[in-house]
Amino acid sequence: LKDLRFFYQGTPYPVHICSAETFKALENLEARRDDMVLVSYPKCGVNWLIYLLNDLIFTTSQTKQENTELPFIECGDPEKYQRMEQLPSPRILATHLLYDNLPKSIFKNKAKILVLFRNPKDTAASFFHFHNNTPNVPSYISWDEFFSEFMSGKVSWGSYFDHAVAWNKHIEDENVMLITYEDLKENLTSGLKQIAEFFGFSPTAEQIQSIADRGNFQAMREKSQEIYGPIGPVLFRKGVVGDWKNLFSDAQSKEMDAKFKECLGGTKLEAKMKY
Ligand code: PPS
Repeated sequence: LKDLRFFYQGTPYPVHICSAETFKALENLEARRDDMVLVSYPKCGVNWLIYLLNDLIFTTSQTKQENTELPFIECGDPEKYQRMEQLPSPRILATHLLYDNLPKSIFKNKAKILVLFRNPKDTAASFFHFHNNTPNVPSYISWDEFFSEFMSGKVSWGSYFDHAVAWNKHIEDENVMLITYEDLKENLTSGLKQIAEFFGFSPTAEQIQSIADRGNFQAMREKSQEIYGPIGPVLFRKGVVGDWKNLFSDAQSKEMDAKFKECLGGTKLEAKMKY
């Protein structure tokens, strides 16, 4: 397990996905005002959102230039930043970094930030499958072992709860919009309309509908291997709300409810997440 982890400022990251060089280069990332920043804890559905946003840009823009490189700012090779510099606006910048670790130029240059949340139980279940089915990523002996690491925040990218507590203080900030995985599942066209408006796009109702059709789980899973390679079926695994019930014991479910209440009870984020 140790060999597959790389620690940056006390937080573990999968060594084949993040590196010290990338984090160093990240400090110099110059965000643009019209960047579309997507922030989420891992496994909240960000690849879905990236796909939807790319489609939104592609469908509504004149240039028709599609960027196929995954836009995670803390992942990949350090030369990625030079390639990103060359990209036309609007760029998508996706990240799982905690609020305090985001590149400061995002705030300085007032880029818009879309924050994606997912129920922590489904997030943890998805994260467990990700770890145990992705080559070169630390795997866990059992769900119970993973659950206790998740609860104590020792998993890759740190604690879900730290991430949520930090964002709860900022969800009403200027240039910030919150959306949940569950809202997108319930009504994708409505979510897409809100997202398009937030980022200043004006798609027609037909365009929204066709983006939603292309972005449904089955359609994306079928294309996943072609677009993402062997990791495709892991990134597009099941795509449902409530799969946590197949892993959590009653005691674990209660433990997470108590932790959620302790960290976020009575907050705006709790209300928005309908936990
Ligand atoms: S990662 O590795 O952190 O970048 O993963 P991320 O993309 O954030 O999250 C993966 C989960 O999102 C689900 N997903 C979808 N759900 C519904 N509809 C669509 N179109 C969709 N696309 C991806 C994906 O299946 C993962 O959740 P689980 O529960 O594992 O299926």
